[in-house]
Amino acid sequence: MPYRKLPQIQDLYQRFLDRLQHAEDGRHPRGLYEPIEYILSIGGKRVRPLLALIAACMFGDDETLRAGMPVAMAVEVFHNFTLLHDDIMDQSPLRRGQPTVHRKWDTNTAILSGDLMLIQAYGYLATVKDQHRVPALLKTFNRVATGVCEGQQFDVDFERQSHVTIEEYLKMIELKTAVLLGGALEMGALAAGADQEDADHLYAFGRLTGLAFQLHDDLLDAFGNHEDTGKLTGNDIIRNKKTFLYIKTLEAVNDRDREELIDWFSHTPDDPAPKVARVTEMMRLRGIPELVEKMRDEFQRDAYEHLDQVKGDPEWKAVLRAVSEGLLERVS
Ligand code: IPE
Ligand code: IPE
Ligand code: MG
Ligand code: MG
Ligand code: MG
Repeated sequence: MPYRKLPQIQDLYQRFLDRLQHAEDGRHPRGLYEPIEYILSIGGKRVRPLLALIAACMFGDDETLRAGMPVAMAVEVFHNFTLLHDDIMDQSPLRRGQPTVHRKWDTNTAILSGDLMLIQAYGYLATVKDQHRVPALLKTFNRVATGVCEGQQFDVDFERQSHVTIEEYLKMIELKTAVLLGGALEMGALAAGADQEDADHLYAFGRLTGLAFQLHDDLLDAFGNHEDTGKLTGNDIIRNKKTFLYIKTLEAVNDRDREELIDWFSHTPDDPAPKVARVTEMMRLRGIPELVEKMRDEFQRDAYEHLDQVKGDPEWKAVLRAVSEGLLERVS
């Protein structure tokens, strides 16, 4: 786990895993359900459900933790649905150190099992104990889920676009990633009876934490170790993803290198190794990874200003801060 050794987190993590294991297993047809059981069982950091549960804990006792559990399930199942489809879109062979669903089965399987997970996510949300909160939760969930789809579309559009600005990139990662981290916190708080002002500050904290999270994910994609990340290192470069790393490198290089970089990013060679080696070399030589780390840490610092304004339990606020600090140092 990328989290600091916090006893509160170990407890929440275990409670969430227990709940996840009790999700209906063994249903038929197996071709539909087995990939869902597979993707939910091969690990993952469980960041989003933990955020939802911490937010719930901030506003009450053990009972409110239970109130947050349906939200935790909904956001994790939704997240895993997005991964099934994302791995098709990104042609990724590996996820959490295992073959991706569309590789282990096929693309149709990943589409349909993913679709069902989206339906299941709504199902979990509808089971919150205080039923009068369901409309507010659904409203947030729909806003977030719509954002994720919009972000994913920008992400694939940018693959074919040679020029992408930093602003466009930031909007894209806000939508595809940050809104769900924010949404997990907002919905966890709302399920536990927090007022809208606190829920909004938690959303703002999660959004900025999510921007930092995606910048770190982009760094790991290019410079991480595949045994840690469980993904194919260099896949963003192979697939011509317009990350902050790429945009900043393009700005920093001389005319000749710029032409070379644009050329590398205009096709996908059969043997990707020379492309990944050369592009990461260009990035390293210009100190771009350090630039990304700086930007990432700035977003995280800005996030704390919102956390400071939340009226919830100070101890749980400290836990949330520690979790987000751990995310900046994660290797997976
Ligand atoms: C991967 O999310 C997708 C992104 C938004 C970067 P995570 O890094 O949270 O993936 P798991 O769930 O821990 O595997
Ligand atoms: C994924 O972004 C965002 C969503 C799944 C919505 P990435 O494509 O960067 O995630 P990884 O690197 O494959 O986990
Ligand atoms: Mg993607
Ligand atoms: Mg991907
Ligand atoms: Mg990535």
